[in-house]
Amino acid sequence: MKTLGIIGGGQLGRMICFYAQMMGLRTVVFTDQKDSPASFVTNHTIVGDYLDKTALKKFCDVINFATFEFENIPVETADFVAQNSQLYPNVETLKITQNRILEKNFLNENQIKTAEYKVINNFDDLEKGLSIFKKAILKTAIMGYDGKGQFVLEDINLAKTVYENVKNYPLILEKFCKFEDEVSVIVARSKSGEIKAYEPLTNIHKNGILERSFYPSKLSLPQKIKTQKTATKIAEKLDLIGIMAVEFFVMDNKILVNELAPRPHNSGHFSMNASITSQFEQLIRAIMGYALGETRFHSQGQMINLIGDDVNNIEKYQNNPRAKIHLYGKGEAKEGRKMGHVNILK
Ligand SMILES: Nc1ncnc2c1ncn2[C@@H]1O[C@H](COP(=O)(O)OP(=O)(O)O)[C@@H](O)[C@H]1O
Ligand SMILES: [Mg+2]
Repeated sequence: MKTLGIIGGGQLGRMICFYAQMMGLRTVVFTDQKDSPASFVTNHTIVGDYLDKTALKKFCDVINFATFEFENIPVETADFVAQNSQLYPNVETLKITQNRILEKNFLNENQIKTAEYKVINNFDDLEKGLSIFKKAILKTAIMGYDGKGQFVLEDINLAKTVYENVKNYPLILEKFCKFEDEVSVIVARSKSGEIKAYEPLTNIHKNGILERSFYPSKLSLPQKIKTQKTATKIAEKLDLIGIMAVEFFVMDNKILVNELAPRPHNSGHFSMNASITSQFEQLIRAIMGYALGETRFHSQGQMINLIGDDVNNIEKYQNNPRAKIHLYGKGEAKEGRKMGHVNILK
């Protein structure tokens, strides 16, 4: 029996465990949190600091290969695991995707369009950038997720206060995109180089957090193909082994890449009940070198996130025969905390 190591113990780690075990693997989770969502379902958990080499060595000694469930783990951790075991996706992919500046540079170097952006090294840069873009978003280049570390700016007075609060981070200023649609494509590439991309899902955000995703999107066929081709190109360029989400802004006459996530993605949870292959199964297939699963969605519908208090109102889903409830085993329903999701099939 082979053992898959998972770095990170959140809900993505938990769902990777479910599918890995279903497919005959053992799982070991490495996390710096006690009682993490994944710890309740994995065969074994090692709790340690991500930089604790002794704990990491113990982890590497009991696994055959590893993956990560979030991109904010230190590169040093990934490097260590890659050297002492096998890590998929590769360290370079992690390095690029955990830093918005490196990510946007990588995309543009490969002729993949993004929002216009400017690296911000001082307040002067911000002032100049804002005068060019007019409306823009200042983002911390690292450690952001669920809209955290992001500030929409339109006037320079507000910019001063915001800048003071975040100036110790590497920063990027992006032109604000008035998109018609926001979509994501989940793409997988296996050890053998086989690549498969799911159809795009439309994503609706509220306060920077994904609220729901639905399929089918309203994109035209050429637009759909464009997003899938772009995701495929990115997976190839990164020598990806594993799964990756590519988020897009769809505008009138162009499609821009917003960001990359080299792991299962919240929007991809819809695939758990609506596709021939769930994104988690696809990740295992990619890592194991099996043929990739068919990505076709057999059902239309939507994925709704249960955020904070939403989880206290799940009765309506419990009483809906076409609702598939997924809960993450988290204790407290704090504001903005992802407690679970529901896939509703049409
Ligand atoms: N340049 C932009 N223009 C317009 N909206 C944006 C821009 N960047 C981000 N957003 C909005 O904020 C959301 C979260 O931003 P994103 O860069 O994806 O960060 P996160 O890592 O938090 O998901 C996006 O999904 C989108 O709705
Ligand atoms: Mg995002």
